[in-house]
Amino acid sequence: MPLLGGDVTEGLVRVGDTVRGPLGSNSALVHAALDHLESVGFVGAPRFLGVDDQGRAVLSYVDGEVAGRPRPDWIADEGRLISVARLLRSLDDAMIDFGIPDIELEQNPDPEGIPPARSYPSDFIGHRDVTPENVIFRDGVAYALIDFDLARPSTRMQEVQGALVYWAPISDPADRDRRLRDVDPFRRARLFADAYGLDAADRTVLVEDLRYGTERSWHLMRDRARRLGGGWARMWDEGVGDVIRRRGAWLDEHGEELATALVS
Ligand SMILES: Nc1ncnc2c1ncn2[C@@H]1O[C@H](COP(=O)(O)OP(=O)(O)O)[C@@H](O)[C@H]1O
Ligand SMILES: [Mg+2]
Repeated sequence: MPLLGGDVTEGLVRVGDTVRGPLGSNSALVHAALDHLESVGFVGAPRFLGVDDQGRAVLSYVDGEVAGRPRPDWIADEGRLISVARLLRSLDDAMIDFGIPDIELEQNPDPEGIPPARSYPSDFIGHRDVTPENVIFRDGVAYALIDFDLARPSTRMQEVQGALVYWAPISDPADRDRRLRDVDPFRRARLFADAYGLDAADRTVLVEDLRYGTERSWHLMRDRARRLGGGWARMWDEGVGDVIRRRGAWLDEHGEELATALVS
């Protein structure tokens, strides 16, 4: 049974209680990370079960609810939001002992015209793609994170920042699902940071760093669309670049209020 709902991975199928999909450039890291999570008894992630005779990665299927599109009404629940933050914290804590393994990471040269990347000392391999489609809920509580394709060396600030884009959300209200249009993103960002246990130093830099990174992500998305095509090109054609631009404008207008909500 083909699995839809994500944006990017083509050829993902459910076979019984497994999910099978193509190996990608980040698979070695992802599979090592999933093996590590299994070895430390972390249940909130799929198990990596090996590669099948068609060369597809085999992961365990995690039963539960996912907030696909259209978004379910519960997407705006604060209890759900808090549970996502707690799950993310426990994932990141479970990844600490894995360290930053000596696995070659995909290095793409920066596309032309992009503002230079800022580098932070990375603490652990973070998930870095905590979209509503990538969280499995059970009994109203976030139970597992799936889709580790973007996992990479991370800081806690980067991990929370990425999740807030989707879960606060940090976007122009015109770009939000209608169930998230009228929520208070300042309050929700604060609730998330508190439930995650983000420290004061990380809170101080998060919003300014996001504003900076928004510019980079516009360039990176355009580059991926050109270079990789497929789902990336589809998203670009559907206007994801404009959504990112409007997020930047929203941050210009509301970033200070957001930063204050995180620290005060
Ligand atoms: N291990 C899994 N357990 C349960 N559902 C899954 C699993 N992997 C994928 N799915 C379902 O398939 C969808 C797309 O998978 P995902 O790995 O997120 O692909 P994409 O890279 O396209 O986002 C998910 O949103 C989820 O509904
Ligand atoms: Mg996904």
